[in-house]
Amino acid sequence: MKFKSIKGTKDILPDETRLWQLVEQNIRETMELFNYKEIRTPVFEETSLFARSIGELTDIVGKEMYSFTDRSGDSLTLKPEMTASVIRAYIQHNLGEKLPLTKVYYISPAFRQERPQAGRLRQFHQFGAEAIGGSNPEIDAEIIALSAAIYKKFGIQEFQVKINSVGCPVCRNEYKEKLKEHLTKVSDKLSIESQKRLETNPMRILDSKDENDTILTHDAPLMMHNLCDECKNHFEKLQEALNILGIQYVVDGRIVRGLDYYTKTAYEITSDELGSQNALVGGGRYDLLVKELGGKSTPAVGFAAGMERLLMVLEKRENMKTDTQHPKLFIASADELSYKKVLSEAARMRDAGIACEIDWLRRSLKAQMREADRQQADFVVVIGEEEIKTNTVVLKEMKSGNQNKLSFVELVNFLTAKK
Ligand code: HAM
Repeated sequence: MKFKSIKGTKDILPDETRLWQLVEQNIRETMELFNYKEIRTPVFEETSLFARSIGELTDIVGKEMYSFTDRSGDSLTLKPEMTASVIRAYIQHNLGEKLPLTKVYYISPAFRQERPQAGRLRQFHQFGAEAIGGSNPEIDAEIIALSAAIYKKFGIQEFQVKINSVGCPVCRNEYKEKLKEHLTKVSDKLSIESQKRLETNPMRILDSKDENDTILTHDAPLMMHNLCDECKNHFEKLQEALNILGIQYVVDGRIVRGLDYYTKTAYEITSDELGSQNALVGGGRYDLLVKELGGKSTPAVGFAAGMERLLMVLEKRENMKTDTQHPKLFIASADELSYKKVLSEAARMRDAGIACEIDWLRRSLKAQMREADRQQADFVVVIGEEEIKTNTVVLKEMKSGNQNKLSFVELVNFLTAKK
């Protein structure tokens, strides 16, 4: 029987992991530069956590979650995003008591049963950040600036920051009625998907991917023109803060987002270098979620971004070719009898912190030299009867061909100095 990875999942092979590690390291550095600390949460949670936070009527909860019943009869779900889990952990561990503004980041797998295509997977990886405990629009601006800073750190400048305000329950409910009234006039011409949304979530019709829907809704009223004073003020102050921080953005009244928890700020960062799945980042403010999940009323804002989509952009860039991992030293064995010394020398090198490889397949000396080359070892020594007798080796630098005669003790010191 032949097994294959599940559709929409991907093996990250040894040739690719170096790039992933480099990207993760850069993300961590930027997050820490902005004083966000890492949080890690379990890969599965109670299903109701996601249903409650993301929204029962969203695509994610309605048709994309990997949910299962465990042996004790509990309904569990592989996390489709991180915000709900982070807020659950924030409440459970009383994180707000330690710091009035809790700033956390994550790099984590996430799972959604979507139709796989370029940039859309069923197991993907998100990096993101959440600032919990502050209502000021400057924090929204910081979150947007942080997400943009990560792309800039990789030399990616060609992206668009699109911001909107989705208001609060006060102004949004009033607006929804207005929007519904407007859309009802064209409802029979809308796509089937949008017709369904007219009752459940009419605002999502505005960010429908269907071209005809976009034409039909071109003059629909927008939330950003119907905000209450508080939300309007917040949106204006956010733009002021973005200007101060030098973040270029466009106001796009059609950014609605596919998760229900947003209030006030909603934003996306998109890239033309991606195909139809062009969203690099999605985020916004969610002031009601902590209370909704059983905590004290606490405002919060955050973002998440797809790792694979960042990598898709990076892979097009020449300067992102990473060094492959290679040993500093390859120790070859001149004959069968010297193999024991090779083994003990390799152990001594590793104890001294020198990355070292030998030929585990006991091949001929010629084959061992070919292997050292293939492994791209920086240095090679050959150990045989003579070397054991004289307690010296000839260390050859592969790139230059330079040779150095050294005792076994000197060998460690020499290579340590080359680290
Ligand atoms: P989201 O827009 O659902 O937001 O996802 C954020 C990002 O994750 C997307 O912009 C995209 O880059 C990536 N992504 C989503 N689904 C897939 C997929 N199937 N395959 C590959 N990449 C994908 C959230 O998840 C919110 N939790 C963001 C947030 C954090 N809002 C506030 N705090």
